[in-house]
Amino acid sequence: METIIQIAYFAAAFLFIVGLKRMSSPLTARNGIVWAGGAMLLAVIVTLFWPGLENYALIIIAVVVGSSIAWILAKKVAMTDMPQMIAIYNGMGGGAAAAIAAVELLQGQIPNAGLMTLAVLGGLIGSIAFSGSLVAFAKLQRLMGDRPITFPFQQYINLGTFALAFLAGIFLILNPAHWILALFFFLALGFGVMMTLPIGGGDMPVVISLFNALTGLAVGFEGFAMGNAAMIIAGTVVGAAGTLLTILMATAMNRSITNVLFSAFGQEDTNPQSCVVGSLKPMDIDDAAILLAYSDKVVIVTGYGMAVAQAQHKVRELMDALEKRSITVKFAVHPVAGRMPGHMNVLLAEAGVPYEKLCDLEDINPEFSNTNVSLVIGANDVVNPAARTNTTSPIYGMPILDVDKSANVLVIKRGAGKGFAGVENELFFADNTRMLYGDAQDVVNKLVQALKKL
Ligand code: TAP
Repeated sequence: METIIQIAYFAAAFLFIVGLKRMSSPLTARNGIVWAGGAMLLAVIVTLFWPGLENYALIIIAVVVGSSIAWILAKKVAMTDMPQMIAIYNGMGGGAAAAIAAVELLQGQIPNAGLMTLAVLGGLIGSIAFSGSLVAFAKLQRLMGDRPITFPFQQYINLGTFALAFLAGIFLILNPAHWILALFFFLALGFGVMMTLPIGGGDMPVVISLFNALTGLAVGFEGFAMGNAAMIIAGTVVGAAGTLLTILMATAMNRSITNVLFSAFGQEDTNPQSCVVGSLKPMDIDDAAILLAYSDKVVIVTGYGMAVAQAQHKVRELMDALEKRSITVKFAVHPVAGRMPGHMNVLLAEAGVPYEKLCDLEDINPEFSNTNVSLVIGANDVVNPAARTNTTSPIYGMPILDVDKSANVLVIKRGAGKGFAGVENELFFADNTRMLYGDAQDVVNKLVQALKKL
């Protein structure tokens, strides 16, 4: 039986990798989820045949309750709430790895010090991912303030907590007494909370991705401790994918991981150099519709505000209305527009915008200089020229969409609100920029109606 289980685990691992590969393109991503989900189902089912397994009733109840809750919540969740859902599900993975470590260590059946070390490491990392993800969830769900929570000597206190947890882990390997085990998990969980407190709401997706990688690592370590190949492979795949995603997100924001973790980004901007000159120039909808209608080429740039307003379907209608007039329409997609990787791709694809119209930053940037109108819908930081010009700006060096180089820029936003980075945007004050104030869905709808009347 064990051989069959190992073969099934190998097949599941293969399917995980096929699923991941398919997730790398929007065209095949949905299908990739099905492949990976099938792999997980296979791994869970064969595990039920593991020799010596007991308590089937409890296991089935746990699987049914867990799956039902996950199914219902996943069906109900709004796209804008996706980061916190990922945080809580990911946290559960870390918690499960930590729970396995606790049980294994309590039973005292881990055969040697090497495996014991891996179990303790898995317990440490899993606990950090668990409690940290819970804090990330609470912040994003507005159960607590989403701004960074800072206090004096915070980094020293955090470092001290981690060092104590690490020391407790070493003592645990030498003497697996219950009180050391309890102290170890208390400190590890505490560190997860402490390290997440100073991180701002908008940085949470990067941190969640990091916790995701940590969860994978913890599961992999526990897989070694328990001699379970599926856990080792799945944990390694999740750990590697999470690490790469974290690095990609940080790079696209031109931030280092340490800067995300330790800099309390997203505080109010007090830098005098970020004051911009000029004025905001509003335009009315009919004039904006005329400007669009007599263009040859329009590039639409969407951002977080479009996601909040759920304006993607209206944006698609706008695209149709413009194309009816033989205007070339393209979409510029910044890698960190919105609040999670692929946020804009997912929303625009959901609304039926063809994939070939979604252009990456490197491909679209050379095109802005021959674009009549760039229409910026609820985006801010990803089009802020300060990233190119102001060396003191917190977003300096972040690659941005060069919309300021197009002949005209129309910006849809509700007012003078800043973006996630909390800095002023000189694009909005530029001579070739006009503001269309209001909720993105409402304004785009009005633009479509006005275009139809022309
Ligand atoms: P932001 O810079 O956050 O700007 C969004 C703008 O949308 C705001 O200025 C806001 O202005 C406007 N807005 C909000 N609600 C709106 C509504 N209902 N209708 C119309 N406009 C609305 O967005 P972005 O340009 O997409 O940049 C994303 C930022 O998030 C970047 O700084 C990025 O580094 C960060 N980030 C992204 C990720 C990922 S993976 N995507 C992860 C972490 C952090 P008003 O209040 O005036 O309307």
